[in-house]
Amino acid sequence: MTSNLKVNPAKSDCSQDAIIIEGISKHFGKIQALDNISLNVGEGIVFALLGPNGSGKTTLIRILTTLLIPDGGTASVGGFDIRKNAASIRPIIGLAGQYPAVDEDLTGKENLEMIGQLYHLGNNKSRTRAGELLITFDLADAGNRRVKTYSGGMRRRLDLAATLVAEPKILFLDEPTTGLDPRSRFGLWDVIGKLTKDCHTVFLTTQYLEEADRLADKIAIMDNGHIIRVGTPAELKGCCGGETRVKLKLADPNQTRQALDLLRELSKDQMNSNSETGDISLPADGGTAILSDVVRRLDASGIQLAELALTQPTLDDVFLAITGHAAENVTAVDAKKTK
Ligand SMILES: Nc1ncnc2c1ncn2[C@@H]1O[C@H](COP(=O)(O)OP(=O)(O)OP(=O)(O)O)[C@@H](O)[C@H]1O
Ligand SMILES: [Mg+2]
Repeated sequence: MTSNLKVNPAKSDCSQDAIIIEGISKHFGKIQALDNISLNVGEGIVFALLGPNGSGKTTLIRILTTLLIPDGGTASVGGFDIRKNAASIRPIIGLAGQYPAVDEDLTGKENLEMIGQLYHLGNNKSRTRAGELLITFDLADAGNRRVKTYSGGMRRRLDLAATLVAEPKILFLDEPTTGLDPRSRFGLWDVIGKLTKDCHTVFLTTQYLEEADRLADKIAIMDNGHIIRVGTPAELKGCCGGETRVKLKLADPNQTRQALDLLRELSKDQMNSNSETGDISLPADGGTAILSDVVRRLDASGIQLAELALTQPTLDDVFLAITGHAAENVTAVDAKKTK
């Protein structure tokens, strides 16, 4: 796999909604896992459901893949109703669950060929498809080894390859890169970004803001069983609380306090600083003009800069602004909403 990420844009002829969700709710005992979820996912895009532990991501995927029946609401997948036409949905979807589900005692190649047989592709086509997928997922050298000898990352990649054997129209990936090292993660992003050809749709969940940002055409931010905001990465970053900031690092961290005094007038008291590293950040309401102001003030007092940059808001900033907590440090208990 290469790490050169390239996301296919949604194609103009993909005009239908691949998934329509209307008022879906689900509770487990006293836990309201999903509360009146409504969403549309167009064909031919990568859609990311972004939320912390326990926010309801897997529950929604299980409902959409017909593994779980909701308490209320309706949804259609590929034009078929999840309650009335579950049997029509199963052949057109693929699901890579949160935990890899491959046979440990078979080799990687045998796993993929077996799935080809299950989908009635026939011996030749199954073998060809297995070979292609092993190459795509950087597993060609390990294809003849039993899966029990694979690393966690290799199993994840094989699991994802397995969902692609039958070339499903709509692919559900539940946290496809959780637990992978950065190199494997970038490699998978590269593959996932290319799966939307021919109006194929990818619906993935993630806890990683960077993953949603880099990969998704559209993102729904989920918290506590609710969808709290939907948009493109750019729309979300522009919408709510995320702000452009000036970030600087002093050559001498001992001058941090002095620098803070000099910059206070520019910052409306919204400065962050670290006196051990000499890092300071402040809002950049005036755009790039503030950069020269910062340099002039510090220079006049003989304070030297090691780094100076203007940074755009990240999805981390947005998540924090919308929910009041960071995306990746919420415990399942915090995230539960009881009825
Ligand atoms: N079978 C179940 N029985 C009881 N409670 C459940 C069950 N499945 C999910 N829950 C609860 O529903 C809530 C949502 O869980 P879900 O697995 O959908 O979250 P998630 O967003 O996928 O979390 P994670 O990021 O940890 O995978 C959690 O509070 C969870 O404990
Ligand atoms: Mg989950």
